[in-house]
Amino acid sequence: MTASTKTPMELYQSLNEVGEKIRTLKTANAEKAEIEAALQLLLKLKVDYKGATGQDYQAGSPPAENMDESGNRSIADGADDDTVDPWNVSTTSAKGVDYDKLIVRFGSSKIDKELVDRIEKVLGQKPHRFLRRGIFFSHRDMHQVLDAYEKQKAFYLYTGRGPSSEAMHMGHLIPFIFTKWLQDVFDIPLVIQMTDDEKYLWKDLTLEQCHHYAVENAKDIIACGFDINKTFIFSDLDYMGSSPEFYRNVVKIQKHVTFNQVKGIFGFTESDCIGKISFPAIQAAPSFSNSFPQIFGGKQDVQCLIPCAIDQDPYFRMTRDVAPRIGYPKPALLHSTFFPALQGAQTKMSASDANSSIFLTDTPKQIKNKVNKHAFSGGKDTVEEHRQHGGDPDVDVSFMYLTFFLEDDEQLEKIKQDYRSGALLTGELKKILIDTLQPMISEHQERRTQVTDEMVQQFMTPRPLNFRY
Ligand code: TRP
Repeated sequence: MTASTKTPMELYQSLNEVGEKIRTLKTANAEKAEIEAALQLLLKLKVDYKGATGQDYQAGSPPAENMDESGNRSIADGADDDTVDPWNVSTTSAKGVDYDKLIVRFGSSKIDKELVDRIEKVLGQKPHRFLRRGIFFSHRDMHQVLDAYEKQKAFYLYTGRGPSSEAMHMGHLIPFIFTKWLQDVFDIPLVIQMTDDEKYLWKDLTLEQCHHYAVENAKDIIACGFDINKTFIFSDLDYMGSSPEFYRNVVKIQKHVTFNQVKGIFGFTESDCIGKISFPAIQAAPSFSNSFPQIFGGKQDVQCLIPCAIDQDPYFRMTRDVAPRIGYPKPALLHSTFFPALQGAQTKMSASDANSSIFLTDTPKQIKNKVNKHAFSGGKDTVEEHRQHGGDPDVDVSFMYLTFFLEDDEQLEKIKQDYRSGALLTGELKKILIDTLQPMISEHQERRTQVTDEMVQQFMTPRPLNFRY
């Protein structure tokens, strides 16, 4: 993690630690070079701290809070150990991030039973298991979307993916599995942004690599079952330059957000390249329907609903802040929790750590080995102990994965109780997970081989969809 992506509170804590270290080194008469290096780090952190907060660092006074919609990632309520931003997700708790605190911190609303019941009523069908189980747990303005839907008013879906490698893992599919369900039940258009430009700006990759990954990842996305007549997938590198309407929106957004605001929201510093600083406008633009005249016929007031993981919320807090000032409706949002790493819910799956993830290309054997070897267990050390005291499903990664993928609510509840009581052993729980994942991944692979280059081409061509406005 580089200093520029740290929150003000993390910077403050690092400053305290480095200050302490310098004092210790001095008392111990340490080497001059070592003290000098620590001093250099202290200076750099001070600069970053000032960049992120606009204030000078002062020992003993932590950074001020800022809780407004467009504002900062605040740490006011003591949800201090959780880091959640577009680049980092971590917590010290084995149960994972405290999502209720995150709702308070981000100022969003909880998807409570009342909202899930309302969705069921409006749709006349059972809500997706991700809603029933709190995997999509937070929202902005979802009631407004349902009001509009009940009055037969149009809306559309927008989601995206940053294509940073060819290897996608199961966690990457969560928003797409859910978006596919939303598209089916609401029968509405969907736009999917592949931010190859973003990955070029943030990673050590060439433009060609990023664009290639965008097309490759699009195949995995298409394999989730999206309707070709209702879905437009676009690479920023391709679409930005071909759509005057899209670029006009980018520029409008750029004009209405200051450097200070993006510093506050994203933690950018003076030494970040200007591409990063203006990128949020590009992720915001698809939230406005006139960015896609071929789909919406130039209408600028079709409401947008964005399903995404909660770490993307900073982009859309900014978008919602800008929208009324440039005469557009604010996008509504549905936020998901993270898909935990095999090693535990302290962090999410990472494509750069092969053992933390189950990839969409893994063989049945690899899946079995990874689950058996690496999935963090909430079980006891010996069978006797486990039988006597039972396991803890709340920290058990295999159980967590089952909450994502096992459709049957009753079966899931029974597994939970049996695991807790000790009737179900860790090995048995893992076997249930393996039996759930293997066919799921094989079927995905099968569907992916059916995706031809022509299909990808068609999904990615700007064109009217099966809707008239
Ligand atoms: N920035 C996202 C990522 O790195 C990609 C993205 C673009 C996205 N637009 C989005 C994700 C809209 C969710 C919703 O993965």
